[in-house]
Amino acid sequence: MTTPHDPEAIPGKTVALTRHARDCECRGGDRPRAAGASHCAYERLAPYLDLPSRLARDGCISDLEFDEVYPLAVRAVSSWFWTPVRVALRAAQLLAFGARSRVLDVGSGAGKFCILAAASTGATFVGVEQRERFVRAAREAARRFGVTSAQFVHGTMDAVNVLDFDAVYLFNPFEENLWQHELRLDDEVELSAKRFAADVAQARRLLSHARLGTRVVTYHGFGGRMPVGYSPVLQERTRLGDLDLWIKTQTHSEAGQSVRLCVDLPDPTEVERTHPPAFCRTRV
Ligand SMILES: C[S@@+](CC[C@H](N)C(=O)[O-])C[C@H]1O[C@@H](n2cnc3c(N)ncnc32)[C@H](O)[C@@H]1O
Repeated sequence: MTTPHDPEAIPGKTVALTRHARDCECRGGDRPRAAGASHCAYERLAPYLDLPSRLARDGCISDLEFDEVYPLAVRAVSSWFWTPVRVALRAAQLLAFGARSRVLDVGSGAGKFCILAAASTGATFVGVEQRERFVRAAREAARRFGVTSAQFVHGTMDAVNVLDFDAVYLFNPFEENLWQHELRLDDEVELSAKRFAADVAQARRLLSHARLGTRVVTYHGFGGRMPVGYSPVLQERTRLGDLDLWIKTQTHSEAGQSVRLCVDLPDPTEVERTHPPAFCRTRV
């Protein structure tokens, strides 16, 4: 099924994309367009948009404007599969504490989260993604936006070492395995209920091996329970979905002894009132 404006759009997606534009309550809003200009006009302007400067100036960018960096087929699935701008900026605040932080995005798709997060914090965000076409789209989008600290690895979770990271982001990456065929992204990779269970188990192992102090943010969860040793720090329930922050506060030494991180975990209302990065620097 096609629409006059978006020949590759899939049913329902055009409406959803419009919803994203309305949802973004940032100061920048949509760039004015000349009468009759199509959204694709941005592709000609893209190399000139410096995203870090734009975010520093306006605090935000609309989903519609951000997504125009992508080819139509990647843009069409944005409202279902890529983190909305406002959520990405908030998750980035919770995950990064200083420009030296390294954050892993498990299942980075077209890189929307990593690019926004890197541009807004200056920290390094590394995405691992199983579909090569999305890795290519992510690298191209980062180049066009002038974001050098978002990097993308093609592969599954085996391709990265969690010990190289201070924090991990998961936007419900495995649930597509459970969806009916028409709702899936494509047939490029094997998807099944068996794979869902295996990937959730692997993600839990990855989180279990992470260093003490590792922060984890999930958006819509990740399909499983957090492994033992993680403390819930913050839960934000918004109309766009659930955002949860966890910190690994307990692990076992090589000798098998339990080691606990001394973190003064605040009550969530206190985190709400304070600026999260400041909280991160002073308390952890
Ligand atoms: C919901 S999208 C999230 C994309 C991105 N994190 C964002 O927020 O914009 C989930 C992505 O995870 C990828 N994915 C799922 N299972 C994966 C795995 N085991 N290894 C690597 N990527 C995976 C999918 O291909 C899809 O692109």
